Amino acid sequence: MSGGTAPTYERGVAVVGLGYIGLPTSAVLADRGVRVHGVDLDQRVVDMVNGGRVHIIEPDLDDLVRRVVEQGRLTATRDLVPADVYVVAVPTPFKGDHEPDLTHVEAATRAIAQVLQGGELVILESTCPPGSTAAMSAWIAEERPDLRLPHQHPDDPDVHLAHCPERVLPGKTLEELVSNDRVVGGLTPECSRRAARLYELFCEGEISLTDAATAEMAKLVENTFRDVNIAFANELATICDRLGLDVWSVIELANHHPRVNVLQPGPGVGGHCIAVDPWFIAAAAPAQARLIRQAREVNDDRPQQVVDQVSVQAPEGGTVACLGLAFKPDVDDLRQSPAVEVVRRLAEARPDLTLLAVEPYADALPAELAAYDTVVLRDLGTALQESDVVVLLVHHAELAALDPATLAGRGLVDTRGVWRS
Ligand SMILES: NC(=O)c1ccc[n+]([C@@H]2O[C@H](COP(=O)([O-])OP(=O)(O)OC[C@H]3O[C@@H](n4cnc5c(N)ncnc54)[C@H](O)[C@@H]3O)[C@@H](O)[C@H]2O)c1
Repeated sequence: MSGGTAPTYERGVAVVGLGYIGLPTSAVLADRGVRVHGVDLDQRVVDMVNGGRVHIIEPDLDDLVRRVVEQGRLTATRDLVPADVYVVAVPTPFKGDHEPDLTHVEAATRAIAQVLQGGELVILESTCPPGSTAAMSAWIAEERPDLRLPHQHPDDPDVHLAHCPERVLPGKTLEELVSNDRVVGGLTPECSRRAARLYELFCEGEISLTDAATAEMAKLVENTFRDVNIAFANELATICDRLGLDVWSVIELANHHPRVNVLQPGPGVGGHCIAVDPWFIAAAAPAQARLIRQAREVNDDRPQQVVDQVSVQAPEGGTVACLGLAFKPDVDDLRQSPAVEVVRRLAEARPDLTLLAVEPYADALPAELAAYDTVVLRDLGTALQESDVVVLLVHHAELAALDPATLAGRGLVDTRGVWRS
């Protein structure tokens, strides 16, 4: 805990980037009585939020946003406004060569620099490589040579900076924003204490204080831990396939050991976090991050292995039902989904096949698949009826509940291990 009295934030808190992280954070802060200025470059997002509506699907977020907007505690704008605290929650993808792309963080930081008056706190929530919070301090110094920044004047800066990574699970964001433990890493100990005071307003988990680079690395380690362990399970799946063994049985039995917990294999790893963040570590220490890079490559190879398994079973000119397109079960997010990648590769490799994609959470194919005449979106019943091969890509509850007995006579590829008898 930081100690000290609760801050009042007379000029409010500006949250820069109103996406899956920034919008729920804005709403939760506003719900705690803070005046929140949401800032986003996307005019559609700004208009929707000002109308009390949301542009992302997240349980209960619509009600909360409507309420805090009606109460006048949350307004959105495209331009930076003066505030006491700036929370940066903009995207941090990687570039083509797997190098981190900090373009959005840099643009947001330089924009914030223009409205600083001294006395503000700037918090980076975006997932970033070690050294990024220090880089923000340097960018502000370039824009505002009149201000004293922590990397130059650690004892008495005009502006304080800290990194506070986000670790919420989409679908449980509002709950986990409050209940999760948080790591707060300042450029100085005083930066950490000031940042922690903001999170104490709504976070009921433990708030651990550290330095900025350690906080940045800790966040990357969390997602890399998941990626490496999933890669182990995926590699086991490939090995067991070669040896004619059922990987699900092997893992289930191995997990009876009291200190073993092998994760479940699948068709690959998707989403914006687990498939991206390990590359930030690999880029920071290329010669040393051997296991981490290998794990990424193992997981990126999985869609092709599924394509090969399907292709062996699919007759010339046949029809394949591809069940699920989302990047994980029971969400509507099709972006960076390994299931979409499997269908895309199958369409490329086997133009003779008709691919019937089933996705209960989508009413249209994603752009990556819409380009193929041989790929069409179908309801589950039709797809099963017309198919020679059924491949389960995502175990949405509705798909996992299918009785495999009703699929008799078709080739089956179960990438999730849910149809085993
Ligand atoms: N989504 C998650 O579950 C999750 C979980 C943990 C961490 N993160 C990290 O949080 C960060 C944000 O992710 P997200 O999923 O909320 O992204 P998002 O794409 O949903 O939203 C980002 C928003 O930022 C806006 N934006 C981009 N540049 C801007 C700028 N210069 N000024 C103002 N607005 C700008 C975009 O228009 C967009 O609305 C990323 O670093 C991500 O890795 C995300």
